[in-house]
Amino acid sequence: MIHLVDSIGIPCKRQSVYEEVRNKLEPLLETLRQKDPHYEGHIQRACFYALEFGRLQKLSGKEIRQLYLGTFFHDIGKVLIPTEIINKRGPLDTEERKFMMTHAELGERICRGLGPFEEIADLVGSHHERPNGTGYPKGRRGEEISDLSRILAIIEIYDALRSERSYKKPFSLEQSLEILHQNAADGNLDSHATEEFAKFAVQIKINPHLGFSHQPPRQKI
Ligand SMILES: [Fe+2]
Repeated sequence: MIHLVDSIGIPCKRQSVYEEVRNKLEPLLETLRQKDPHYEGHIQRACFYALEFGRLQKLSGKEIRQLYLGTFFHDIGKVLIPTEIINKRGPLDTEERKFMMTHAELGERICRGLGPFEEIADLVGSHHERPNGTGYPKGRRGEEISDLSRILAIIEIYDALRSERSYKKPFSLEQSLEILHQNAADGNLDSHATEEFAKFAVQIKINPHLGFSHQPPRQKI
């Protein structure tokens, strides 16, 4: 079970609002858990990266909260994508791919309807945008994509590379970083953020205190 408020340490005065929203979202999250066996682990690891990398980059408390929540809900739009597409073994065909790509906009719309989650709606909707304009849904370029969205894109790709999926085995740390760097060189990822994240990923590997096999650490932000 993923715990939203517990793991992020949201200040008490806002906690009840987030609790209320979480209760509304819980059925959606449960649906996603059932649709995608990799979902929960992916979210836990990605949220850990968001918190720790955000801290390392000295982001403000507000930015870390937005990055954490945006990471937590980045794929919430997949709740409206058919299970057979999400779990398909092998590549998606053109129609299936188009359908799958709608999850970013769907996720943004879900967050826009959820009061305090308005602040992460753009982040959720733009996590597949790419600096060179090849991303979706809007094909934004360069500065049109927020810094947090660029970081979230790296986190999502890195965890996907390092994890087993229905269509692939996990890549090693070295292979994953090489692919990230290649994507940065091609303009698919922010070069500076990729460089910084690569250092962070190596640090996680060599520092057992930054390892994880449990919930993200409690943190007041
Ligand atoms: Fe996504």
